[in-house]
Amino acid sequence: MGRSLTSIADLSDEEISHLFDLSRIFLEVNEREIPKVPALRGKTVATVFFENSTRTRLSFELAATRLSADVLTFTLGSSSVSKGESLRDTAETIESLGADLIVMRHSSSGSVKLVGSWLDIPVVNAGDGAHEHPTQALLDALTIMDHFHMNSRLDGLRVAIVGDVLHSRVARSNAQLLSRLGAEVNLVAPPALLPLDLSLWPVKSSFLLDEVLPQVDVIYMLRIQTERFSESILPSMEEFSRSFSLTANRLGRAGKGAIVMHPGPIIRGLEISAEVADSPRSLIRTQVKNGIGIRMAVLYWLLGTDRDRVDPQW
Ligand code: NCD
Repeated sequence: MGRSLTSIADLSDEEISHLFDLSRIFLEVNEREIPKVPALRGKTVATVFFENSTRTRLSFELAATRLSADVLTFTLGSSSVSKGESLRDTAETIESLGADLIVMRHSSSGSVKLVGSWLDIPVVNAGDGAHEHPTQALLDALTIMDHFHMNSRLDGLRVAIVGDVLHSRVARSNAQLLSRLGAEVNLVAPPALLPLDLSLWPVKSSFLLDEVLPQVDVIYMLRIQTERFSESILPSMEEFSRSFSLTANRLGRAGKGAIVMHPGPIIRGLEISAEVADSPRSLIRTQVKNGIGIRMAVLYWLLGTDRDRVDPQW
């Protein structure tokens, strides 16, 4: 198996900061009248999504297109998986077709790494079960850094990650990355939606959002992942909303400079009110924009010929 990105732990500190530098260059490319460079001409990127997605798949495909790679799109509904084809056969077929890299999403934790161990080409984890979603964490870190005018670290920033932490791959990747960059991460959720053992997580935790809000710079809301609930662990959504939904009224408890983030898709009225999601303090749309730059950086880093240069010229 070549170099892959399945977890934040796959990246050294130098590589993380290199990816931020590359992303800023590619975000500048995105602002051009013709937002395209020949960096990956002749390469083929396959997006293989066994779970639904809007922004992540489109973002990777746009990133590949803007680097002039060809894109192969696999969607579960029309695939041979419905005829009983195994994950290994599907992945090997896509490699044999000529893909140079696979971007994969799957509902099983660990599945992307497993696929990577079968193939000779790099794989990028676009979300595996409740495990990890490394490019989401990278784009979130970049968004926070740029907002607070920090270059490559987040020292001293206080981040609350709020809601369904238990089922969230976004929370797992973000907790690791943001704390490595120096931020103080607080997971805020009802007991039923927090992992039982947080002793290995580099974070604090709390059950009371209202108490945490006055002390944070970033309020990172998560979607309630009902599709991953095996039983009714949350007896009442209304009850959850009453204590954890980010309404305009509740946001009033936070400091004036605190920003609101969410990986999307947002469920308006459940974890976040429409008013807050659309307010100037919400960076949700900036996150989506930055996602293209981060994914261009990751694809280029894994496939480009000049991948270690910080200032490729096009
Ligand atoms: C997240 C995901 O799929 O893990 N969305 C995303 O990638 N932007 C979060 C979610 O689905 O709630």
